[in-house]
Formats: sequence, C-alpha cells, structure tokens
Amino acid sequence: MVNDTCAAATEPARLPTIGVIVGSTRPNRFAGIAADWIAEHLRARDDVLVRVLDLRDFPMPFFEETYSPAAPGREPFQNEHVARWRGEIGAADGFVIVTPEYNRSYPAVLKNALDYVYVEWNRKPVGFVGYSATGGVRPVEHLRLAAVELQMAPIRQAVHLPRAVIAAFRSGAGVEDELRQHDASATAMIDELLWWTRVLRAGRNELPVAR
Ligand SMILES: Cc1cc2nc3c(=O)[nH]c(=O)nc-3n(C[C@H](O)[C@H](O)[C@H](O)COP(=O)(O)O)c2cc1C
Repeated sequence: MVNDTCAAATEPARLPTIGVIVGSTRPNRFAGIAADWIAEHLRARDDVLVRVLDLRDFPMPFFEETYSPAAPGREPFQNEHVARWRGEIGAADGFVIVTPEYNRSYPAVLKNALDYVYVEWNRKPVGFVGYSATGGVRPVEHLRLAAVELQMAPIRQAVHLPRAVIAAFRSGAGVEDELRQHDASATAMIDELLWWTRVLRAGRNELPVAR
C-alpha cells in the first residue's frame, strides 16, 4: 500500500495554477484584451502556471438546479459545461477575475459562473482587473462580497483600468500604450495574489471548511 506521506514527500512540487476568468462574452468585448494583458504579466513569472478561463467556452445555462452547490453530500451538477467549469475551478489554486462594469456591478454571465461552483472556490485567493468609466471599482467591490460568501480570499490590490484604456481599444489605436501605464499596478496585484496562493495552498486542507 502506498504511504501518502512518503508519496507526497517524493512528488515533484507542482507550480501553482492561476485561472484568469474572462468576465464578458460580448462579441466586441474589451475583456479579452484585458485578460490577455494580465495573463502575459502572469506568464512572465517563473513561479506560476496560467489558465485563461473564457466564459465563452463555458456556455452554461442560467442557474436552474434544485439545490445549491454548497449543499453537502449532493451529486455534482450534470450539465457538461458546468462539469468542465467546475473541473477548471477545482484545478486552479487562485484566480484573477477580469470584469467590466454593467450597471454599477459585474455581468450576469459572471455571476452565473460563480454560482454554479462552491467547494472548488473555497480557500483560494482572487485578485481583480476591473474596467469602466470609473475604473471598474464597483464591480470589483461587488465581486469581493460574493468571494467572501464563496469562502475565498479576495485580495486588496486590484487593477482598475479607466475610460481612456477602453476608448483606445474602441478607437483601434494605442491600447498597448494605455495598458502599459497600469503595468505597475498589475505587478503589485500579482505579487500579492501569488503570496496568498502559496500560503493558502499550503494550509487549505488543515481544517475542514465550515458551512
Ligand atoms: C449592459 C452594460 C452596462 C454598462 N454599465 C456601465 C456602468 O454602469 N458604468 C460604466 O462606467 N460603464 C458601463 N458600461 C460600459 C462598459 O463598462 C464598457 O462598454 C466595457 O467595454 C464593457 O466591457 P466588455 O466590452 O468587456 O463587455 C456598460 C456596458 C454595458 C454593455
């Protein structure tokens, strides 16, 4: 019989994985640009693996299950896109959520994706890239509240991209220059996120998660 302790001791250390969640699915979205930019910042590090989780690739129905994913002892949801989404969330050690502002909050498609999963979010850190006329402050604040209920650790440092960045994208010129002005804030957010990722990964299973 394999001794778990010995097996763990001899396993090569796996780098932590950060999932970058693309929070808009519109055909002409800015979200993809912001997600690629922050993913490149992460890929420049040698201490992390990156998975871009584009909600376009997970066309989940609006939540319509008979129980919450937080309900203990229930079957996982059967919808194939939900099952794949849950698998991706479970495989990641931390997240960056890239979110626009829709009517002072974050998009419904993103809320739906959060609601479908529970255990796999628990005790994982999440950082944010928000954008809007006011830098996406409000959707990020709303996401922090949801993250607490999901028993995640929302981190303070965030990237807030203002109107000028979106305008440069829409005009077709200069978005890289605009984004470059936010490189330092991306680095600060990622530094903090990766610290939380390492620490929570090491301690995640020390104590059962309270329900
Ligand atoms: C439904 C909707 C609601 C919006 N509400 C706001 C808002 O409350 N405040 C704001 O500054 N911008 C608002 N915007 C502008 C978006 O932040 C901007 O269009 C952004 O590019 C949308 O992100 P996306 O292109 O990645 O979908 C809204 C856009 C949409 C489509």
